[in-house]
Formats: sequence, structure tokens, C-alpha cells
Amino acid sequence: MTCWPPRSDPRLCVLLCCAVLAVCAAASSTGAGVCQSPGVASCTDCLCRGPQCAWCFQKDFLYGSEPSRRCDLPENLRRRGCGSEFIEQSEVKVEINATLSGTQVSPRGISITLRPGSQASFMVAVKQLQRYPLDLYYLVDVSASMQENLNHLKTVGVALSLRMTEHTSDLWLGFGSFVDKPVSPYISVHPSKINNPCSDYEIRCRPAHGFHHVLSMTGNMSEFTRVIKRQRISGNMDTPEGGLDAMLQAAVCQNAVGWRPEAKRLLLLMTDQPSHLALDSRLGGIVVPHDGQCHLENNVYTGSTRMDHPSLGQLSDKLLENNIHSVFAVEKQQYQWYEELVQLLPGSYLGKLGIFQAPNLIDLVVDAYKRLLSEVAVSVSVEDLAVSRFWVSVSPICPQGSTRKDQSCSGVQPGQTVYFNITIGQHACSADGKDNDVVVLVHPVGYNESTVVRVHSKCGCKCRPTGHCNEDVQSPCSSQELRPDHGHLKDLNIDPNRSCRADGWNVDCSSRGVCECGKCVCEQSRLGLIFGKYCEMDDFSCPYNRELLCGGHGVCVSGECVCQEGWTGESCGCPTSPTTCQSPDGFICSGQGKCVCGKCVCDDPQHSGEFCEGCRICHIKREICKNVDCSHSLKGAEHCNITCAQLVGPIEDLSERVSSGRLLGTFLSVCVLTVLCGLVVVAVSQLLMQKRARSPGGASAEGGYHCTGKDVSYIPRTNEKTVTYRRDRPPDHLLEMHIQVPKMPLGDLWQY
Ligand SMILES: *[C@@H]1O[C@H](CO)[C@@H](O)[C@H](O)[C@H]1NC(C)=O
Ligand SMILES: *[C@@H]1O[C@H](CO)[C@@H](O)[C@H](O)[C@H]1NC(C)=O
Ligand SMILES: *[C@@H]1O[C@H](CO)[C@@H](O)[C@H](O)[C@H]1NC(C)=O
Ligand SMILES: *[C@@H]1O[C@H](CO)[C@@H](O)[C@H](O)[C@H]1NC(C)=O
Ligand SMILES: *[C@@H]1O[C@H](CO)[C@@H](O)[C@H](O)[C@H]1NC(C)=O
Ligand SMILES: *[C@@H]1O[C@H](CO)[C@@H](O)[C@H](O)[C@H]1NC(C)=O
Repeated sequence: MTCWPPRSDPRLCVLLCCAVLAVCAAASSTGAGVCQSPGVASCTDCLCRGPQCAWCFQKDFLYGSEPSRRCDLPENLRRRGCGSEFIEQSEVKVEINATLSGTQVSPRGISITLRPGSQASFMVAVKQLQRYPLDLYYLVDVSASMQENLNHLKTVGVALSLRMTEHTSDLWLGFGSFVDKPVSPYISVHPSKINNPCSDYEIRCRPAHGFHHVLSMTGNMSEFTRVIKRQRISGNMDTPEGGLDAMLQAAVCQNAVGWRPEAKRLLLLMTDQPSHLALDSRLGGIVVPHDGQCHLENNVYTGSTRMDHPSLGQLSDKLLENNIHSVFAVEKQQYQWYEELVQLLPGSYLGKLGIFQAPNLIDLVVDAYKRLLSEVAVSVSVEDLAVSRFWVSVSPICPQGSTRKDQSCSGVQPGQTVYFNITIGQHACSADGKDNDVVVLVHPVGYNESTVVRVHSKCGCKCRPTGHCNEDVQSPCSSQELRPDHGHLKDLNIDPNRSCRADGWNVDCSSRGVCECGKCVCEQSRLGLIFGKYCEMDDFSCPYNRELLCGGHGVCVSGECVCQEGWTGESCGCPTSPTTCQSPDGFICSGQGKCVCGKCVCDDPQHSGEFCEGCRICHIKREICKNVDCSHSLKGAEHCNITCAQLVGPIEDLSERVSSGRLLGTFLSVCVLTVLCGLVVVAVSQLLMQKRARSPGGASAEGGYHCTGKDVSYIPRTNEKTVTYRRDRPPDHLLEMHIQVPKMPLGDLWQY
């Protein structure tokens, strides 16, 4: 096998080939072909092959053929005689729990049933309210370089709350500070510097700390300003700070921070340095991964020296879970570093922090709030253990005026609703093969409501009530009967009615199979499938109707259709019930005919129409009889009417015949007249021509015509052309004639 691209690593070749094969497999995984595989031995196998496959567990279904034949498209199974109640198939159900309702997200509860290979779609509507309360938590890096920023935070509170009145119903602020993990080498552990890291500069600073929660959410702006004024800076050694560690605490310590459940939540991180990431703290001897829990004691983060920084994924999960939008207000130099970080945190915003500019910080918050709210996205999370067994696709339907970006809508205005079409599909069953429920959470980013989707994955087959899920997997001489320890029971176990010969046949298995242990094993035919207890059935040797064997309403037994109830006819094409013949007035064929194979056959040939409802003559008859004067009748008016009807019949017929005769006559006379007129015209023109031919130079032409011995007046004019077409094989005399024809002064006729 040659490989593309040439000269590449052989492993790459294998990979490429696998990819190609996978694509092929995916492409062919439609239609009936995918269900029919000799390897399918049980119901579970069958349903795993695709959502379109079904398994028939009817006991005698396709008796004599391999068990894999029980797996097919449901319509094929039904056509081969499997009762609908014996068909196990992938059922995809989506049920919406209407008992739960939300103001912003609906529905709140959905339960769906899936099988491997199947998928289900549902819609989640996310409505943005006009106004939300807003909680804003300032998480400020208080390392020495942040002194200026801390100073102008003091003036922010009141101004910001004034600016935000047009966007939110009320604004609450909170405050927390962080530096870094208080261990070496991130801080100096010299005794003189532990308590005052700024001792070198003769400034009084506070000790370094991982995170201090300072002010819980409050609407009292003077309280906020008072607390900010009390803040003092701290110091550490290395450049990056422990911002992400502090963010996680601020997000998960709901009670201490006092996030309001009904509020939109912004967590604003102010820093002028990059942040430490997970695994960074190994240098300080901290190797325990973060557990994602709140570790605040007296508003001091106690886990800082025990646990590593959280990973970005962990932080992102916790922010989502607590409906928190994060805003990064960073110094210009660090902008790029955070730009990449923000892309990994859904619902986050990045703004540049200008030095000595309080208005800038206010604008930043207002912008962030507007931007974050106008962007509506959902995060769909599947339980950890089941994540590999499902796939999810999200496609938003954005309201007018907004634009779609991948899986979210941006530019959504307050009061608008965004719809998300969410499709959940199942790849596989859990390893234990049990049916179990998996919870999928659809959480609009930053919203306090979410949709809980309970996915019930069906992995086994119920095969109620008989349990033939994988019957007849063994050969007809089933292993149980032949096992030595059952030897003496053998005869009891065998169905005494077992035989390979149908009543009235003198060959086994209709001579289309072999008899093994009293059971027919039907032969394979290229024409189709042979099956049945005596191999008497097949799917190819019966009449077709509407391109379906036995019209799709019967099974083919010994070459004849055995129709389902409600159908009859050689190819089961005729419904037995006459409903199709019922005319709108409720009678069968308007009472004027019989229903034959679902169609009306009228008794009286005068009647016509789909339901024999039409009869032009009958109407005329009635009209005539109405006007008949019955007073002269000897036997009474009623009798007169009857006789009238009887009499009118033949008269009508006669008149009809007469009138049609008249029509025919007119037609014939018109024909004759036309022919006569034609002849007259031809004769006249001929006369004219001859007259001119006799005039000077016309003699030779006259001779030419007389040679043919034909009456020239009847030669159709089109002959002039016909001759020209026969140039390939010109009969000499015709050619001559042709030459002479143009010499005839025919054109002169038109020059008069
Ligand atoms: C709807 O949700 C409620 C609360 O979770 C639950 O008690 C109830 O059984 C659910 N109803 C349905 C039909 O799933
Ligand atoms: C707001 O905070 C200030 C200072 O802490 C306090 O004096 C005042 O009583 C508070 N106002 C309200 C309404 O709680
Ligand atoms: C979510 O927020 C809305 C709007 O602020 C509020 O009406 C609702 O009560 C909140 N829901 C919960 C569960 O807190
Ligand atoms: C939702 O998505 C699925 C899969 O892409 C699609 O089949 C279905 O038609 C969509 N439904 C709507 C209402 O757009
Ligand atoms: C054998 O056939 C008879 C009559 O057709 C039937 O009544 C009986 O139930 C059958 N026995 C078994 C074990 O199928
Ligand atoms: C004769 O039949 C016509 C229509 O069938 C009816 O309208 C009319 O009344 C009848 N005449 C008599 C005298 O019964």
C-alpha cells in the first residue's frame, strides 16, 4: 500500500489509513446495511449498530435463518412478519418537566432516553431580564507596586454606584486583597521582613498573604470607602502574584463574601503582574493540588501554604458553578499575558488599567458589565465519569440585532431571549453495561438558573415478554440437549412437534434447506432471504405491488402472498374494507356500483366518476319526467312517473345516438368540403401554370412532366424539397425532374 504524503513516518501512514477507514465507516453508517451483519448475535449488539436498527424477538421469526437476521430496519422486520409488539428499537424520548420553571432559563428540567448511536435535541431559552442587581467584588493585588491603584480605588465607590444606576437596580461592593503564597521563595523569610516586607524602604507594610477577605458585599458606599482607606500595601519577592488562588476563594466562599443569589456577580481582579499557575508552587515545596473548597478562617485563607494554585480548568469550573463573571483590570504591560488567559475562562472580560485614573476604572467596570451581559453563552457539562460516552453540540439561535459567535450570541439587549438548540448523543454504554442515568447540566454563563438534563441511557434490551433477546445463537442442536449430563432428559427436552416436513410435502424443508436435529436450516440464496419453519417463506418469489413484495402488506409463503389482515388480492394490493369506495354521501360508490379492490366499479355504464357519482343523462331524465303530465295516465301518477323514467331511458339513448350521428355527419362533410376546396385550388393553379408554360420557353417543361406519366396537377408541391434531400442517392429521373422544376416559372405566380 502506498501512502500519502510520501516519505512520511510509517506510523503516520497507519494513522492516516485509520482515519480514512473511519471516515468510510461513518459514511456507510446509514440505511439498512449497517444493521445486517453476520456478527450481530444479540439484541444489544443489534441496537449498538445504530439508532435505525431494531431487533425482532418474536419466537418463530425467520425460523431457519441466522439470528443476525433478527436485526434490521423496523419496516423490514415488519414486512417479514415480525409483529410490532415484538420489535425492540432505539427509542429516543425527550420529556420536559413542566413542574419546574424559571424566570430566565426554561425549561429547568428535561429527561431524555438514549441508546448508543442515537441523539436527541431540545431547546433551552435564556431570557435576559431588563435589570439585575449587581454584586462587584474587588480583589486587589496589594503588593508594593499597586499603591497608586489602591489609592484611587478610594474614590471609586460612590461614583461607580452613580454611573451604574442606569444599568442595574442596585450595586453592592465587596473587597478582598491578596499578594502571594507566604512561603519562600515567593516572600523573603528573613525575620525582619516577615512582618514588614518593606522594611528596606522604611515603610510600614503588612505581611504577605494568600488572600484576605476584607469587606463582605454591602450597598453602603461610605462603608466601602472607609474600608479601602484603611488598606495598606504589602510586599513579596517574585514577579507573578497569587491572583488565581485568591479568585477561587472569592468565588467559592459564598457565605463570607455574601454574594446575593439574585444578583449578577462580577469578580474584578486588579493587578499589575502575571499570576502564578498550577504547579508553580512546587518550588516552595507545595505539591498538593487545590481541592476547590473554601478555606477561610476569620476571613483569612488558610489553605495558601498547603495547596497549590488552582488550574485554569478548575477555576473556570468554580466560576461557572457560582455564576461569577470575572473581570481582569491589568496594567498595560501585562495585557498580553492576560489576553490569552481570558480566552480560557468563559464569561470573563479584560480591561486595561491606566495609572492614576479613577474614571478609567469606572469605565472599565461599566464596559465589562455591559459586554458580559450582552454575551449569552451556555456551558454544557456532563458528569465526569460519563463524559467520554456522550457528545454534545450547541447551536444558538440569536435574537434580532445580535450576532452569533460560535456557540454564543453577542450584542443581546436586555429583555431579549436567546434559544439554544442542544443535541446530546451517546457513543457507548458504560463498561458495566447497566442502564444508568447521567446528569448533564446546561448552564448559561453567569446566570443563577440552569437546566438539569437527566439522560437515561438504555443499554440492554428488555425483550419483553418472552425474552428472545439472543435466541437461537447456537446451532439448532442446542448445546443443552447434547450435553452428556442431560442425556437422559434429552428426549423430554426436544419439541415432539419438531419436524422438517410441512403437511402435505414429501420433501424436507421445501427442498430449500437441510434438516438438522429436526429443525430446518434454510439455504442462502442470492435472490434473497429464505426462511420459515420449513423454509417455505422467502422475500423474492411473490408478486410485487407498488414495488413492494406482496404490496408490503403480506408475507411470501411458497410463492404466494399471505396477506395481512385488511388486505387481499394476489399481491395484497387490495384493501378489504370498502372505506376507500365510500362516497361523500356515505354510500358505497354512491349506491351505483360495487367496490372492487378499493375502487368503484359502476353497475350502469352511464355512471362515471371515482364514486360513480356522475351521470349527465340521469339528470336530464329527471328533468323531463318532472314536466310530464301524468293526468292522462290510467294507472295513476306514480305509475306514470315510473313508466316515464323507463320510457325516457331509451329515448334519451336514442337522442344521444342521433346527436352523435349528427356530429359525425358534420365532421365528415367538413372533411369532404375541405378536400374538394383543396382540389379546386390545386386545379386552378395548375391551369394557370399550364397556361404560362405554353407561353414562350415552356415547351420542354411540359415534356418533362409527361414523361413521368403522372397527372401533374396532383403532384404535391413539397416534392420539390423532398428531391433535394435525396441528393445522396439520386434516382436519375427524379434528379432530372428536380433540375427542371426550378426552371418552371413557378415563382412568377407570386409576382402577380
Ligand atoms: C420534575 O422535577 C421535580 C423536582 O426535581 C421532581 O420531583 C419530579 O419528579 C419531576 N417530574 C418529572 C415528570 O420528571
Ligand atoms: C454606612 O456606613 C457608615 C460607615 O461605616 C455608617 O456610619 C452608616 O451608618 C452606614 N449606613 C447604613 C445605612 O447602614
Ligand atoms: C435569579 O435571579 C433572578 C433575577 O435577579 C431572581 O429573580 C431569582 O430569584 C434568582 N433565582 C435564584 C434561584 O436565586
Ligand atoms: C437542532 O439541531 C439538530 C441537530 O443539529 C437538528 O436536527 C434540529 O433540526 C435542530 N432543531 C431546530 C429547531 O433547529
Ligand atoms: C404440538 O402440536 C400440537 C398440535 O399442533 C399442539 O397442541 C402442542 O402444543 C404442540 N406441542 C408443543 C410442545 O409445541
Ligand atoms: C315524478 O317524479 C319527479 C322526480 O322524480 C317528481 O318531482 C314529481 O313530483 C313526480 N310526479 C308525480 C306526479 O308523482
